Amino acid sequence: MPATPPLAPTTQELEKQQAAAAAVRWVRDGMVLGLGTGTTSAQFITQLGARVQAGLKVQGTATSLASEALARQVGIPLLEPRRGLRFDLAVDGADELDDQLRLIKGGGGALLREKTIETAADYLLVIADSSKVVPVLGRFPLPLEVVPFALPWVLDAVAALGGAPALRMDKANPAAPVYSDQRNFLVDCHFGQIPDAESLAVRLKTIPGIVEHGLFIGLAKAAVVIQGGVAQVLKPGQAARPASEFTDLP
Ligand code: A5P
Repeated sequence: MPATPPLAPTTQELEKQQAAAAAVRWVRDGMVLGLGTGTTSAQFITQLGARVQAGLKVQGTATSLASEALARQVGIPLLEPRRGLRFDLAVDGADELDDQLRLIKGGGGALLREKTIETAADYLLVIADSSKVVPVLGRFPLPLEVVPFALPWVLDAVAALGGAPALRMDKANPAAPVYSDQRNFLVDCHFGQIPDAESLAVRLKTIPGIVEHGLFIGLAKAAVVIQGGVAQVLKPGQAARPASEFTDLP
């Protein structure tokens, strides 16, 4: 029987590759990198691996077990967490971003490790396809990472804030909850539009049992987003500029 030809990549997949390619160009010898999680980050890690094979000298720490496995597979030297470890650059996808580069992250369940590494990074660069930019955060459900014991009270507290929380269940086995890499639960919250992400972030932080929430505020320095087929650089509150104008990190 003739082999089935591989499916052609979708426009969204091509945009993810394109955003990753713009970011990979700005990686320099000697950089210590934070490696994100998700399909766009997987593109970045794969393309970075090709540059490492060609002689680029970098090291990195991954934000999930999945990204760690991929980085190892493509030959990126990995660093374990340790005191004093800082990252020159972290590159990661996002579930949503607004024009101030406030983000919702955690759709892939890696929000705690992502926020840990990206807070320890001097520069967080977001890479995203065109579907991720929104005028106001909240279309994508806001993920929380929750200690299993605390789940009932977290659900009560988030419901009282209007977040319509739902425990994330395994798609392949709908009776089983999804666990994070830290063996915590993931809860997806449906607040609708989040006009004041800063104050919601503060309120979520006061609920015992929420280890981390998926609002990333004030962390991203720039984003590469595909708009009209072109890789554009977004910076908080600034007009978009083509990524091709930048030879170094924007
Ligand atoms: C992982 O937990 C997330 O924060 C991802 O960065 C986010 O879900 C983006 O994923 P994609 O690149 O797959 O869209």
